[in-house]
Amino acid sequence: MKVLTVVGARPEFVQTAPVSRAIRRRHSEVLVHTGQHHDDNMSAVFFADCDLPPPDHQLAVSGGLHGDQTGRMMMALEPVMLAEAPDWVLVYGDTNTTVAAALTASKLGLPLAHVEAGLRSHDRRMPEEINRVMTDHLSQLLLAPTPAAVANLEREGIRHGVELVGDVRVDIVLDTARRSRPNLEKLLGRAGLLPEEPYALATIHRPSNTDARERLTAVVDALALVGVPVVLPVHPRLGKRLREFELVLGGELRPLEPLGFVEMMTLLSSCEIVVTDSGGLQKEAYLLGRPTVTLRDTTEWTETVEAGWNRLAEPEPETFRAAILAARTRTPKARPDLYGPPGTGKRIVDRLEAHLDAAQAVYRRTP
Ligand code: UD1
Repeated sequence: MKVLTVVGARPEFVQTAPVSRAIRRRHSEVLVHTGQHHDDNMSAVFFADCDLPPPDHQLAVSGGLHGDQTGRMMMALEPVMLAEAPDWVLVYGDTNTTVAAALTASKLGLPLAHVEAGLRSHDRRMPEEINRVMTDHLSQLLLAPTPAAVANLEREGIRHGVELVGDVRVDIVLDTARRSRPNLEKLLGRAGLLPEEPYALATIHRPSNTDARERLTAVVDALALVGVPVVLPVHPRLGKRLREFELVLGGELRPLEPLGFVEMMTLLSSCEIVVTDSGGLQKEAYLLGRPTVTLRDTTEWTETVEAGWNRLAEPEPETFRAAILAARTRTPKARPDLYGPPGTGKRIVDRLEAHLDAAQAVYRRTP
């Protein structure tokens, strides 16, 4: 089989690493980078950290409003897909890159497989929710990480081509955390921390938290209430808004440039608590046993909340303080296996092989 994988934003580089490796053991892969994330510290460092081969096609599309960005990606993807004529187009998660590739593949009649299918925040104000819903409804193979994701698809009437394969991050998170310890002291030094000092790790980048001055001010004020120094790698969207609103990160907040994956896993493994609005980090924190407060009112990773390891909170001071206290004192010892055993990459390749005929038949069927 020839699989054309489309990636473009930071989480997709991490997600594709174990799958690309598994594909290349038995088949051929064409790796396409849309360019959505392009800075070295948002892209190149992830290719190096996750040991990814260089992309076969670099489309250099980034910035702009959503329709503009997605449209330009589709225009750039179409000739590549036509020329490569793959058996499968493989996409990940919920970014504009994901939906652009899903729409382009579908219009060309190319079988589409979606890794991390079935996640829902049930919040249509999030661009990611629109991207996921669209991509799932266009996919012939829906690779779901959890039983909850399978149930979400069923509720939307999607039953064909759904496979519960576990989560692609299990392998890469555990492997990376295991071999990344030596960097810790240096990283803490960069954040002005001593080796044994307790700290929190925070990331903020959702438009709902960053794009309005009042909300971002509340988020920054809340981070100052965590009670230990907060290491905050600053995503470009957050950096841009902080400058625009002239907000300063002082006191216990320790901003850093965006970190690579190895550095992030190093800090995550040893932090006391995580505060985030990222999807991926909530799950990575669970896998490494770090209690989490999520600064949103919904999450796609509901099982981390049900297991008692993740708490949703608003940045309002009382609520936030209570969530931090609960995360510190009431996170249970038990951490059930929610995301399946290692080996998701191989399970995905098995399903791509098994579903190819059925997926191609969808586009051959006469009405
Ligand atoms: C995107 C995804 C989100 C994912 C996140 C991870 C969508 C709709 N959202 O959000 O699901 O969780 O990536 O980070 O696809 N920028 C740079 N340098 C870069 C990359 C971006 O300066 O290397 C700037 C962009 O020009 C833009 C801002 O950062 O102004 C945000 O980038 P954008 O691609 O719009 O989406 P993210 O917020 O990163």
